[in-house]
Amino acid sequence: MKLTILGGGGFRVPLVYGALLTDRAEGRVTEVVLHDLDDSRLYAVARVLDEQAAVVPDAPRVTATTDLDEALRGADFVFSAIRVGGLEGRANDERVALAEGVLGQETVGAGGIAYGLRTVPVAVDIARRVARLAPDAWVINFTNPAGLVTEAMSRHLGDRVIGICDSPVGLGRRIARVLGADPKEAWIDYVGLNHLGWVRGLRVAGRDELPRLLADPGLLGSFEEGKLFGVDWLQSLGAIPNEYLHYYYFNREAVRAYQQVEKTRGAFLADQQARFYEEMKRPDAAALTAWDRTRAEREATYMAENRETAGAGERDADDLSGGYEKVALALMRAIARDERTTLILNVRNQGTLAVLDADAVIEVPCLVDANGAHPVAVAPLPDHATGLVCAVKGVEREVLAAAASGSRATAVKAFALHPLVDSVNVARKLVEGYTDVHPGLAYLR
Ligand code: G6P
Ligand code: MN
Repeated sequence: MKLTILGGGGFRVPLVYGALLTDRAEGRVTEVVLHDLDDSRLYAVARVLDEQAAVVPDAPRVTATTDLDEALRGADFVFSAIRVGGLEGRANDERVALAEGVLGQETVGAGGIAYGLRTVPVAVDIARRVARLAPDAWVINFTNPAGLVTEAMSRHLGDRVIGICDSPVGLGRRIARVLGADPKEAWIDYVGLNHLGWVRGLRVAGRDELPRLLADPGLLGSFEEGKLFGVDWLQSLGAIPNEYLHYYYFNREAVRAYQQVEKTRGAFLADQQARFYEEMKRPDAAALTAWDRTRAEREATYMAENRETAGAGERDADDLSGGYEKVALALMRAIARDERTTLILNVRNQGTLAVLDADAVIEVPCLVDANGAHPVAVAPLPDHATGLVCAVKGVEREVLAAAASGSRATAVKAFALHPLVDSVNVARKLVEGYTDVHPGLAYLR
């Protein structure tokens, strides 16, 4: 089985390959093709994978190419994990928004819109090529903003593209643990958009255990989301929001905190990873050691940053290892071997949330089998959550329209309609600011 990884020179690729190395079962991936635009990044990551493979018998064979069509031909699965504009682009997404006094963050608010506007045209081009060159392949989209990018690709690939995120599964796991339940046994009633969802229940042996958590301030205050949102607010909501909802519920504090940091998350990671890729240019460098060291630093600062800016608690080792690769591997196995399972994924709504049309990509528990991911029926969201979901989906649709038409006015509309952008004038300045710094937005006229 052939797996193609787009964004194959990315820093997290060794996590994916590491997950593949643990899979010994029949029908596993035997061939990995890394694709990236940047030769030196491909070379760096291929060296790490080479060292990972050295201690494992029958490790999947790895090749690398900068030719996209060659990478796609014959693929059974395509992981799309690209970052258009790189981490410098992410840093600019953050900086321009913060300078206008609104949230500057990778996926939420103005920063996420800018990232989406640059990424959608590239993702659409990839989707068209997959449809032509590997029509039977399944595309697993890691690329952020994951819900929006998955929807853009689904217009060309239908249900053959599935978006993933590690945050819902991480949240479910933390809730199960504080309740003393086995996360594998728990049914998590979660729905929304990517980075905009709520856990409304957690069923174990047919009983909803979430009310027990919501009624117990001690338990509620003991885990990351409890510390982040505060016991009172979680009790008022009657649900546990995805951590990214902190940017909505505590927007003013989040913006202020981010305005005060010396380096934004994107700027910090850009520097740190640049050092790793530089080091890899030395032929004698120990690749896996350098990668591991860089990753450990990244995780340490992740915890430190979270505490300072968002007030979040500590994360456990499982959360820090990301989890994206585990979700992706579980999804790929379920499809390839018809091993039925349930995963929270980004798929077309198909009537699951009645307020959204059938093609709107949502994040929801899905039954997965050889026929793909099938969203499970869920109870409707309460009005306040429906309001946010509809507003943000409306913004995503404007981003898709702007990317398709190249209309600057539509891009302004996307920013202006976002709940976290408080004036049309600010939206206009954001479009100015972003088109100034991002070559990838030159298409907006
Ligand atoms: C979580 C989110 C991802 C996001 C990442 C950022 O894993 O689910 O969508 O990209 O955090 O982490 P970073 O270490 O890049 O700031
Ligand atoms: Mn995510």
